[in-house]
Amino acid sequence: MEERFYSIRMRASLEGKHISGQERIVPYQKLEETILELHRRPSEDWDFQTIKVELLKEPPQVLEKSLKVKSYKFSCIPLAHNFIAGLLEEEHGINRHFVKSLISKLLSGINNGWNLPGALIVEPTTGEVVNPKSSKGIRTILFDWVEREKVKKLLLEKGYTVRTLDALALATKNVFCGVEAEICISDDPNYTTGYVASAKLGYVRIFPIKEKGSPFGGRIYFVRRENLEKTLECLRKKPLLIKEPDI
Ligand code: COA
Ligand code: AMP
Repeated sequence: MEERFYSIRMRASLEGKHISGQERIVPYQKLEETILELHRRPSEDWDFQTIKVELLKEPPQVLEKSLKVKSYKFSCIPLAHNFIAGLLEEEHGINRHFVKSLISKLLSGINNGWNLPGALIVEPTTGEVVNPKSSKGIRTILFDWVEREKVKKLLLEKGYTVRTLDALALATKNVFCGVEAEICISDDPNYTTGYVASAKLGYVRIFPIKEKGSPFGGRIYFVRRENLEKTLECLRKKPLLIKEPDI
């Protein structure tokens, strides 16, 4: 019989404010320990926690390698933003003014002065925002590493942060699903490394992408209109496991 896999998704909040969200894809033997691990995961107080456990209808597709990781440091934030806009224009034909204006929007609270819970979907040729109506943004789910602990160790040994573990898997799934390019700015006031990712560019870490202390951030997914439906379906429904980080 084919091995059964489960998606476990945890989210914790305090007085309605999001505190922590994490997910795993594991076989049956790891189910109980993983539920407990995710239950214990939030480091801050919470008053509401949900843990969803879902038997996957199909075994996850396994990808051999993640996107290739590169890192760039800049002496100031405007230079970093110019670099991102230049890369996306040169490699993907996305107008640099669209890119700069989208980054500025993310950094000033795109959602009535706050962040969106999910990604803003933008058509790369027109710069038009094409999120489904009244959407709070599209969230990528159902991704993990085949051997998460091994990959975590490898990344830490190379000087990357634990954040890279989840963000690299997420960005790899996005490209797999047809996202042409992604920009990510963390909403954590203390985390000022962002990234731009695509099949052509790899996973390009950018420091500093915002001012320390800023609570704003978000993700932009550039998706061509003709791929929109298929890509959004894949982001929410297709389970993906990744074997090796390309570092
Ligand atoms: N900020 C604000 N709201 C959030 C949120 C966040 N970071 N994450 C989830 N939510 C909200 C969603 O908007 C949704 O709200 P709604 O019920 O009002 O529509 C609700 O929580 C449930 O989200 P959904 O994605 O539908 O639920 P889920 O239980 O299937 O999965 C997560 C929850 C958090 C595990 C999943 O959305 C996710 O983010 N997985 C990736 C986790 C990860 O590795 N993140 C690292 C990225 S670097
Ligand atoms: P983080 O990297 O966790 O600080 O998240 C930065 C921003 O990315 C959040 O403010 C959300 O707008 C967005 N985001 C976080 N998680 C997801 C996800 N799973 N899918 C799509 N967008 C996300």
